[in-house]
Amino acid sequence: MNNESKSNPQASFVVVANRLPVEQVTNDDGSTTWRTSPGGLVTAMEPVMKNQDGAWIGWSGAPGEKLDPFEADDIKQVPVELSQDEINEYYEGFSNATLWPLYHDSVAFPEYHREWWDAYVKVNQRFADAAAEVAEEGATVWVQDYQLQLVPKMLRDVRPDLKIGFFLHIPFPPGELFGQLPWRERILEGLAGADLVGFQTPEGAANFLRLLRTRMNYQVQRDTFTTPDGRRSRARAYPISIDVQMFEDLARSPEVKARAKEIRDDLDAKTVFFGVDRLDYTKGLRQRIRAFGELFKSGELDADEAVFLQVATPSRERVEEYKRLRDDIELLVGRINGDMGRIGRSPITYLHNTFPRSEMAAMYLAADVMVVTPLRDGMNLVAKEYLACRPNNDGALVLSEFAGAALELKQAYMVNPYDINGMKNTTLQAMNDTAANKRRRMRALRRQVVTHDIKKWASDFLGDLDPDMKPDEG
Ligand code: ADP
Ligand code: F6P
Repeated sequence: MNNESKSNPQASFVVVANRLPVEQVTNDDGSTTWRTSPGGLVTAMEPVMKNQDGAWIGWSGAPGEKLDPFEADDIKQVPVELSQDEINEYYEGFSNATLWPLYHDSVAFPEYHREWWDAYVKVNQRFADAAAEVAEEGATVWVQDYQLQLVPKMLRDVRPDLKIGFFLHIPFPPGELFGQLPWRERILEGLAGADLVGFQTPEGAANFLRLLRTRMNYQVQRDTFTTPDGRRSRARAYPISIDVQMFEDLARSPEVKARAKEIRDDLDAKTVFFGVDRLDYTKGLRQRIRAFGELFKSGELDADEAVFLQVATPSRERVEEYKRLRDDIELLVGRINGDMGRIGRSPITYLHNTFPRSEMAAMYLAADVMVVTPLRDGMNLVAKEYLACRPNNDGALVLSEFAGAALELKQAYMVNPYDINGMKNTTLQAMNDTAANKRRRMRALRRQVVTHDIKKWASDFLGDLDPDMKPDEG
């Protein structure tokens, strides 16, 4: 990764996201390097940015770090500083203990604190100021995700010349839930500052438009809304995707194939089930692991023949709910392996770590059945990555109907993650289905992701935002 220092970049295309696409890691010898930041937003936006020659404004991931703009991974990076208090209140607090659970069906209890809101406003203003400084006259600024919902209006107030887009990577909740927010009007107004507001699903866009009409009294006609100052903007669904070709190329490479074989040899099982998720309570890990525990206990899965590989990616480790989740998961896995394992053989292989993309591709390639069972998920890119890594049309995808991806990936083995018995039956069905059936499903699923990759997503969104800048899809 090249890392060359630059100051005061000006750009005609600016991405504004909570995190930079790279984060600093300290090596064993004390030196530091940059590596790709975790999460779906970066996976999706990185290839878009590489085609654009723009600037990316975001936080480095470290407290109180004042960094000059620099270049890494061929992207101009413009760091925004967050103090430790702001990390506590804006990032861990309002973003991840208020908005995150509220927007995910309240699967954990959202907390409301006025000082967290104050920090959210202050930090959003800082991101808006940074964008106003970096954007050239008439530039396109694309604001990302729930951490920065006030930025579109803040930016428009000072830079009405800009084209402002906003994309929400997580679900947008129905009015019954959103209505709990003491600052609901401010958030709606903030988002409505954009010329185009993008959501993962038509349901998210419809929830937002309905709230603009009922709570804000805005005029709404189909996907178009009019703000009190007479500006017309749109809200629509743009289901996000991945760089399919990049994952497929990885999966076809001799190194990744060899590594996949090594993983299979190490796991030494007829059937490999695989799950990989940030260690987040929205991902349905408790239910999934319980389901596997019961399948192994009942003998429906034989621990000598099947193994469940679960990668749990470290995430938001200082937030209480995440600490609790980690303890619960590790207790459950330990119990199941203790009860059902024997020397040299555990039914569940559990890894709490972050891996390079080539290793992820090797694991996707090694897996017979991919298990993606979130309780609620904006999209879920892991499901799409698995499909991209199966160019031979083999394998099977078990998918929650509550992932945004379920709307597109209809031929997956679909489950309700709250229904443990149903999930067990469908997981067994995915394992035992005929090769012909699996291939038929996989072919259709792959067709969907291959024809709806990240380039198409960016081109659809940016083309609607500003027809003059529709990027090359080819
Ligand atoms: P979310 O955005 O909620 O984290 P997604 O499934 O949409 O969920 O995206 C997760 C992204 O993070 C994927 O690109 C996936 O490959 C990557 N990822 C998840 N776990 C790991 C890990 N342990 N190591 C490296 N990358 C990971
Ligand atoms: O959209 C999901 C998301 O919250 C992204 O904003 C983020 O990149 C990813 O999950 C990882 O979360 P965090 O940045 O809090 O580690």
